[in-house]
Amino acid sequence: APEGLRELLLSRIADVPDYPKPGVVFKDITPLLADPAAFGALTDAFAALCERYAADKVVGLEARGFILAAPVAVRAGIGFVPVRKAGKLPGATLRQAYDLEYGTAEIEIHADALKPGDRVLVIDDVLATGGTAEASLELIRRAGAEVAGVAVLLELGFLAGRQRLEAGLKGAPAEAL
Ligand code: PRP
Repeated sequence: APEGLRELLLSRIADVPDYPKPGVVFKDITPLLADPAAFGALTDAFAALCERYAADKVVGLEARGFILAAPVAVRAGIGFVPVRKAGKLPGATLRQAYDLEYGTAEIEIHADALKPGDRVLVIDDVLATGGTAEASLELIRRAGAEVAGVAVLLELGFLAGRQRLEAGLKGAPAEAL
């Protein structure tokens, strides 16, 4: 991201020590969401990536990914598709399991939400271990669509999520704003 945007975004993300457990520093994006100039600039930057990567669908990852991705879809003039935690979507779904620090989790997409040939940009707030994003790429491919890229607000580089995503991206870009 351009230096000015990067500084603006970082200034609106709060560090919360020892949340949700001791030793973890939580990145709180609610100050950014509350600032229309910062939220608007972020939305514009994500929408520019939609254009650059010729995306025709935006996938948002529950829950904070929904907040960031929905206005991007509207601004870019393309459809929004939710990837939800398992058990929340009413129609026929594809389901993908992924590893957490302890145990596993599952996410789902509506089986008919994407068409073969769709180019999909995945948007989320944070790339941490990359498990969630990696599972979403599996879902997009299983739905028959193409991965245009992954875009996040914040990448926690020390967790090596980018490396975990590499195989699933198959050369598509991963961007942290
Ligand atoms: C957080 C975050 C990403 C994911 C990143 O979501 O919003 O979606 O974890 O972690 P990973 O790269 O290690 O997979 P969380 O599962 O806490 O869900 P929430 O947004 O619904 O709280």
